[in-house]
Amino acid sequence: MALGLRHHPGRHLATSRRLRRSLAHGRTRSKPVIQSTNIERSDVPTQTGDGDPRPVILRAENVSVSYQSASGSRVDAVREVSLDIREGEFVSIIGPSGCGKSTLLRAFGGLTRTSGGSVLLQGDPVTRPKPDKIGFVFQDYTLFPWRSVLANTVMGLQFRGVDRREREATARRYLELVGLDWCADSFPAELSGGMQQRVAIARALTTDPAVLLMDEPFGALDEQTRTLLGGELAGIVEKTGKTVLLVTHSLAEAVFLSDRILVMSARPGCIKEIVQVPAERPRTEEFLTSALFDEIRAKVFASLIEEVHRQAQANEESRRAAQRG
Ligand SMILES: Nc1ncnc2c1ncn2[C@@H]1O[C@H](COP(=O)(O)OP(=O)(O)O)[C@@H](O)[C@H]1O
Ligand SMILES: [Mg+2]
Repeated sequence: MALGLRHHPGRHLATSRRLRRSLAHGRTRSKPVIQSTNIERSDVPTQTGDGDPRPVILRAENVSVSYQSASGSRVDAVREVSLDIREGEFVSIIGPSGCGKSTLLRAFGGLTRTSGGSVLLQGDPVTRPKPDKIGFVFQDYTLFPWRSVLANTVMGLQFRGVDRREREATARRYLELVGLDWCADSFPAELSGGMQQRVAIARALTTDPAVLLMDEPFGALDEQTRTLLGGELAGIVEKTGKTVLLVTHSLAEAVFLSDRILVMSARPGCIKEIVQVPAERPRTEEFLTSALFDEIRAKVFASLIEEVHRQAQANEESRRAAQRG
């Protein structure tokens, strides 16, 4: 696919590092720190050995996860996933319902034990949650209703023992980043679902985690809100240079936001295909209506729909087997 993109990953990396330092030290301005630097990324970042100089931040080696169901039978949820995620990459995971996406994400975050293989974050094995290094945003609104927006946002720093003034200043900076500094004193019930998820994103970012894992963060929102939030997330990621792994069932969201899209197979989920999204950043609404967007979306859809049918068939067979008893 000839896109005329030039490849300056080094520049991108330097920019992200500057930004991260700036956010960490409170020099964030209300306007985007990077307005439009036309960050150019590699147009063919593959799994390994692709010449992408960005360091590998998260590595999965033959990760498998099986569950023991209450009746004693075994469910193989994820089978032998191997993957390298590079610093600053945005990777989406898409696949049929029940194929193991959440399981894989949880295994990456140390929330679910692997039954085979290993997960390495910056070279260290991930065997339990690492709240300092791995941030999570889930689909369900996870804010504490009795705490104000600010009090919710400071929680990660509070657990870390950061003193009150510093943690509140940091939380306000991240609330500003997601456009919600003005409602720091409100309570979650006073916020729309989209706003609550923006607070959850701000909260996940306050500890400056190396990786942000998001499991259908906009899944409970209406389409317009999720389109807007997708755009905002793209801006936040540009500004912070965060490495993000996003589980989504929205093709448009995956194509708009990602450098790479992993299509998972029917259960037990493995990586069926990796689709590159070689579009310039920052991405604009023009990209949403471009031929390239349609082309990538169609490619992902074709790959996904096969697996959706396979998964539906497998579900039906399990249902019949359970009925037979
Ligand atoms: N804690 C659990 N115990 C037993 N089975 C589980 C558990 N969590 C998930 N599963 C099963 O593992 C499979 C994959 O689930 P999940 O990772 O949630 O899929 P997805 O996120 O792709 O919809 C499903 O069959 C699900 O029922
Ligand atoms: Mg899930």
